[in-house]
Amino acid sequence: MRWQREDNQVQDLPGAVPEALERPKATAVPEHVAIIMDGNGRWAEARGLPRVAGHRAGMKAVREVTVAADDLGIRVLTLYAFSTENWKRPRDEVDFLMALPQEFLLTELKELIDKNVRVRLIGDPEALPAHTRKAVDEAIRVTSENTGLILNFALNYGGRMELVRAVRALAEAVRDGRIDPAAIDEQAVANALYTRDLPDPDLLIRTSGELRLSNFMLWQLAYTELWFSDKLWPDFRREDLFAAVEDFRRRDRRYGGLR
Ligand code: FPP
Repeated sequence: MRWQREDNQVQDLPGAVPEALERPKATAVPEHVAIIMDGNGRWAEARGLPRVAGHRAGMKAVREVTVAADDLGIRVLTLYAFSTENWKRPRDEVDFLMALPQEFLLTELKELIDKNVRVRLIGDPEALPAHTRKAVDEAIRVTSENTGLILNFALNYGGRMELVRAVRALAEAVRDGRIDPAAIDEQAVANALYTRDLPDPDLLIRTSGELRLSNFMLWQLAYTELWFSDKLWPDFRREDLFAAVEDFRRRDRRYGGLR
């Protein structure tokens, strides 16, 4: 199976890419895909396993989907790994989730480097345990010169918290005379967000049949195409990403205007 990437590189893919994805289309492959990876707990409970087993299985899906996104020529993949609200979960589950970045990067970092992937973080790193922060900082550092897929983990991330930070930063800039209030426009707000140098997501995927945003990228999702899957995140495969992208390419994006 051959796939013509947006950068015109042709490459072989191991999995079956649907025919429709091989034909040139009016709408390109999304530049930025964001995913709310939901359903790990239900996946585990359905198997009589502890919830954390679902998170470990979810980590394997992260690996598969990252490779698939890279194969498609997607430029940014943002994954909602831990929200500012997830601290409310039982201590054991939080501890397990905080150990996953370290485990993921220990096992996957070499492949990520080989694939020219650049790891990034959105969210507040201050509240993360030292070992989690160290693992993420290290991954960001060793991949900082890479020029391929940006693998952007949302960790201790909340959309409202991000906007509060931005408002505070702009208020301080006004107070210090660095910006005139009248000069605060959409670009100024966007520049005060974690995603200041990233394009807005073109496509948002949420798994597990839930139809909500859960405080994820509230500013950035203004014109994003939404795609929901009933599959639980650990069951999400590369073919499911292909299906979402195929559907995205059939959408007619008008950004509030007319065709
Ligand atoms: C939501 O499922 C999932 C999470 C809160 C955690 C997501 C984390 C991963 C998929 C692993 C992350 C991997 C790395 C490399 C950091 P849920 O627990 O809310 O599921 P439920 O709704 O069925 O209970």
